[in-house]
Amino acid sequence: MSASAVMPYFIKPSVNLSTVDKKAAYEQAMLEIDATLNGEANAILKMVTINCLLKTHLSYYYWVGFYLVSGERKLSVGPYQGTMGCLHIDFSKGVCGRAAREEKTQIVPDCHALEQGSAHIACDPNSQSEIVLPVFNQEQKLIGVFDVDSSLKNSFDEVDKEYLERILGKHFGGVISQ
Ligand code: SME
Repeated sequence: MSASAVMPYFIKPSVNLSTVDKKAAYEQAMLEIDATLNGEANAILKMVTINCLLKTHLSYYYWVGFYLVSGERKLSVGPYQGTMGCLHIDFSKGVCGRAAREEKTQIVPDCHALEQGSAHIACDPNSQSEIVLPVFNQEQKLIGVFDVDSSLKNSFDEVDKEYLERILGKHFGGVISQ
């Protein structure tokens, strides 16, 4: 089952930000994330807080959440905010699978330009661009990926990559910039 093209009442279409506004929004979100998670050790609480505060401040975050490594080269959906996410993604499929497989951040300016079902998995037909980052624990072991979708094209760039790698690296484990 995947999400319908009709957005539910609590979901709004994305609004892209200028670089200046994007940096300001990440700075504010980061302040609030750091303050809320100060001394917090529970990984689920960290994930829900990061999802909530980034989605609050970044107006182009249509879907935001974690897929967690579960079983042999498989991901299962974890904490997220947005429309219905796909439950399971194999390491061999989609942008999430590629980020897990290569342990490297993926920026997709136009999801529909990728081969559907293999290079990209459309959990919601409204998603048009996407960034996916690997998430590591303190031992540098991959524990999942962090996925953000926008309902507009070209929402994500090096600014998103840089801030998100900092946030995830600080609260989980070293995300090695590549
Ligand atoms: N588009 C992702 C699947 C997850 S959804 O975006 C929530 C992918 O291609 O891996």
